[in-house]
Amino acid sequence: MTATKGLEGIVAAKSSISSIIDGVLTYQGINIDELAEQATFEEVAYLLWHGKLPTQSELDGLIAQFGEYAAVPADVIAGLRLYPKGSNSMAALRTVVSSLALFDGEANDMSGESNYRKAVKLQAQLPTVVAAYARIRDGKEPIAPKKGVGIAHNFLYMLTGEEPAQVAIEAMDKALVLHADHELNASTFAARVTVATLSDIYSGVTSAIGALKGPLHGGANEAVMVMLDEIGSLENVEPFIQNKLNNKEKVMGFGHRVYKNGDPRAKHLMQMSRQLGELNGDMTLYEMSIKIEDLVTGQKGLKPNVDFYSASCYTMLGIPRDLFTPIFAISRVSGWTAHILEQYQDNRLIRPRADYVGPVDQHYVPIAKRG
Ligand SMILES: CC(C)(COP(=O)(O)OP(=O)(O)OC[C@H]1O[C@@H](n2cnc3c(N)ncnc32)[C@H](O)[C@@H]1OP(=O)(O)O)[C@@H](O)C(=O)NCCC(=O)NCCS
Repeated sequence: MTATKGLEGIVAAKSSISSIIDGVLTYQGINIDELAEQATFEEVAYLLWHGKLPTQSELDGLIAQFGEYAAVPADVIAGLRLYPKGSNSMAALRTVVSSLALFDGEANDMSGESNYRKAVKLQAQLPTVVAAYARIRDGKEPIAPKKGVGIAHNFLYMLTGEEPAQVAIEAMDKALVLHADHELNASTFAARVTVATLSDIYSGVTSAIGALKGPLHGGANEAVMVMLDEIGSLENVEPFIQNKLNNKEKVMGFGHRVYKNGDPRAKHLMQMSRQLGELNGDMTLYEMSIKIEDLVTGQKGLKPNVDFYSASCYTMLGIPRDLFTPIFAISRVSGWTAHILEQYQDNRLIRPRADYVGPVDQHYVPIAKRG
């Protein structure tokens, strides 16, 4: 037995949710470019769960369900108030999602109907808990969700307490569409491994959030913004990046395990970053990002991934950087739950083997005789 480090190139599941073929990303066979330009996030969530785009009445039904489920139990919000000041926002999200299971009487009901209902509920509730966490952390009172508006709209409203501008809603909605699913990425795989033991959907999503938190996965968008803040100005880009490249340090937001010729989602976020810069009358973050891309792609051949331009977009939307990865989760929970439902449909325990490289033929030595 020989191990494949990082399971690179290993095909570990059959799935009909999203595909990456020859560098083209599709959700249920529809090119992400078309969805980014034309679909709303609610349509995409429906598409991932049902394998088809919704009719108007199906879409209205889903939006109504989101509205019905979006409020979270008061005790869950009370729990958020107990988290220590300065808690990591993804650790907080991981904890609160796990706690949601304790307040859901059907958390362990494994019927298909109940699991679908919980998928919709998790999608409806994640924006509420992220916004509530952010407000409590800032010493403000959480704001109850609205009914009848989309997820992007509701999230921005609950975060700021103000009616978001149409342009902000559209930008957030497009970001959610672009992050919704991505084949067997690390967090989705973690979710599938967890539920393949026939554990519940909350456990699957909690595992996924833990995996998304890492800087090699979802945590990269926040790390990009830390870097942009550290660079601080257009003039500093070149010495900063050159120094990183000379020292063989990773530049966050570049490279990808699957895409070697560029991440198809990045161009949409790059355009959005430019548009938001023009709208705000400040192109600094966009121009810094373009310069970083020129240097990293020029010297290393590495292209930006989905996280690189997300960072400047979210910042220009006025979102604090520690919420970037939780926003990724608000979107990706649609994909995680679609994969969890798919896993339940045709389940087999996921249990690979290890290439053992430790000592052999050892014997137990009584403690008194150990040197
Ligand atoms: C995404 C990522 C984890 C993919 O990793 P991977 O397929 O395991 O690739 P590796 O980390 O083994 O990288 C392969 C080579 O490219 C280099 N490389 C990869 N990403 C790099 C980056 N962002 N900056 C500089 N060099 C990078 C590695 O140093 C390595 O070089 P070497 O062969 O000389 O050692 C990796 O590209 C990365 O860490 N990127 C930064 C984090 C990030 O943006 N993550 C979000 C992904 S959507």
